[in-house]
Amino acid sequence: MSQMEHFIIEGGNQLNGTVHIDGAKNSILPILCTTILAEGDYIFGNVPDLTDVQNLLRTLSYFGITYSFEKHNNILFLSNPGINDEDAPQKVVQKTRMSIMTLGSLLTTRGHAKLSFPGGCAIGTRPVDFHVEALRKMGADILLTDTYIHAHCEGLKGAEIKFLHSTVTGTQNIINAAVRAEGETVIYNAAMEPEIGDQINLLLKMGAKIDGRGTGTLVIEGVKYLAPANWRIIGDRIEAATFAIAVAGTGGEVELKGVNPDHIESILLMLMACGAEIEIKDRSIVVKSSGRLDSTGITTLPFPRFPTDAQAQFMAIMCKAAGISIIEETIFENRFQQVEEFQKMGANITTKGRVATIRGVGELKGATVSATDIRACSALVIAGLIAEGETEVRNLKYLDRGYSKFEEKLTNLGANIKRK
Ligand code: EPZ
Repeated sequence: MSQMEHFIIEGGNQLNGTVHIDGAKNSILPILCTTILAEGDYIFGNVPDLTDVQNLLRTLSYFGITYSFEKHNNILFLSNPGINDEDAPQKVVQKTRMSIMTLGSLLTTRGHAKLSFPGGCAIGTRPVDFHVEALRKMGADILLTDTYIHAHCEGLKGAEIKFLHSTVTGTQNIINAAVRAEGETVIYNAAMEPEIGDQINLLLKMGAKIDGRGTGTLVIEGVKYLAPANWRIIGDRIEAATFAIAVAGTGGEVELKGVNPDHIESILLMLMACGAEIEIKDRSIVVKSSGRLDSTGITTLPFPRFPTDAQAQFMAIMCKAAGISIIEETIFENRFQQVEEFQKMGANITTKGRVATIRGVGELKGATVSATDIRACSALVIAGLIAEGETEVRNLKYLDRGYSKFEEKLTNLGANIKRK
């Protein structure tokens, strides 16, 4: 994909039809790090074809893991022949922040890891202090330089881990560290996102001893060995939320297949509050809308409340909703980058700290806009779909980290969108 690739969108079309939601990016990434914990062969189904997944697999290959991915049916064959003592080069590790999630698994298996700092991104500084403090409590010696994390241990020991703030990958990292540590680990204030449940379910199948799944307190009894297991990744709730929000804004009727409705309840409730109709069927969700929405207010919070990863998309449709909407972003310190881009399209948005006030306008006008992160990119696409005229969305490298066949799926639903 060239750096200059962009979308050209002709706004105004309604969305109608069925969309099959891919496997969850934020589930396959920690699960790939879980494979470090047990030698043998794995088959994973419903694996999304994303650059973040490809980049993390490349990192894992430096530790001896081999893999082949069947794109046409989203099946990943992976083999762990035994983890070597190599470290992945900085240029590879830095391609995805998620390399930090190999830390817990590497320490509890081979006792050392050298990772370049994951670094920040547009939405925030993305520190990893919660990960480091927890692993130190489990007995790891961790030296931080401005570019590297040097970690080693003589075997990890179970500990009481109290996360002051909810951290998704922090919880996932410590789960991977604890399942083969010596003794019992208790994680207080563990994040409860569905992707953590998916990781725990796979680990239980591999022989791990974990109590408290789905609660904020996890009790993990370390075991000496785990066995590989096959697994089907859960549907991506954020991709599903993106399409649900899109059709609420464009108007039309779209059936979402492949996602658990319980995983996006907070979004569906907000869309109903704005005037969309939601029907939960046996194995799908139907979202129906006139495209004319009422304003509302959302606050992003840890699961099961409204997810930060759907905030920008929701803001896009509030730009045309009748009345004044308030969005409070409590998770990341800089997740309103899309505001300036929406303003180029005629949106009336003001921000004060982590609160955005959106005054609905009669229409948005197509413009040339640039994405700054995965979700801002999908939000700008939604804004283009509901705007008058032509919108150019730049920086698709962000989109391809978190969405697969995005424009194909939208085209199949009736959108006028082309990748150039
Ligand atoms: C995960 O990131 C997701 N990524 C993010 O999705 C998601 O936005 C985020 O959780 C919140 O739900 C993956 O799962 C791969 P956190 P993570 O640790 O784990 C602060 C997307 O678009 N913090 O829950 O990095 C942090 O800065 C991505 O798919 C520390 O201060 O998020 C943030 O303000 C974007 N120190 C808050 O906690 C730490 O050591 C929550 O972060 C860790 C986090």
